[in-house]
Amino acid sequence: MKQIVFATNNKNKLREMREIMEGLYEVLSLDDIGCHEDIVEDAETIEGNAKIKADFVTNKYHVDCFSDDSGLEVEALGGAPGVYSARYAGEHCTYQDNVDKMLAAMKGQTNRKAAFRTCIALNLDGQSYFFEGRCDGRITEEQRGTDGFGYDPIFQPDGYEQTFAELGHEVKNAISHRGKATRKLIAFLKELG
Ligand code: IMP
Repeated sequence: MKQIVFATNNKNKLREMREIMEGLYEVLSLDDIGCHEDIVEDAETIEGNAKIKADFVTNKYHVDCFSDDSGLEVEALGGAPGVYSARYAGEHCTYQDNVDKMLAAMKGQTNRKAAFRTCIALNLDGQSYFFEGRCDGRITEEQRGTDGFGYDPIFQPDGYEQTFAELGHEVKNAISHRGKATRKLIAFLKELG
């Protein structure tokens, strides 16, 4: 079976990707290839950070690799927090800190449009590819729901009355930024066979 490295140690992302790729590729984690370096993600774009991780692994370990990076872009905040979504409220902040900071920043704001974006960078057989997924929606006035993670309790996707945290995994995966980007990657890899 062909092998491909997913530049992550996030157990949820790995499990999901292994299930999807079963029979097509054996998906290895950073742990699996003995990569324990701290990869510094200091690009100013989501695309840039995805590429930093994939290139680091391919260049150092000489393997095919993909990596993903995501962020929330809020129109009224000029696209922030974007690439800084994980550490919006500070270097060691919690998801709740980020939610609180976002609600405070958006207090009284009438333009509540926002979008989640995921970029997947793939290095395969010496070539580089990108796959993007986007989910448009709005920042709610209050947090709702307990499912999911990150900004899920305050993100209401277009066409729905509930937040990601109220919709549950199945619906979220079907419409989310990460779901869309991942399906593009899978379709590409399946086509190659
Ligand atoms: P990552 O690149 O997938 O690790 O995402 C970076 C940050 O963006 C996360 O730490 C979250 O704060 C936020 N984020 C990304 N995807 C989601 C999502 O699906 N729901 C909520 N927050 C997300």
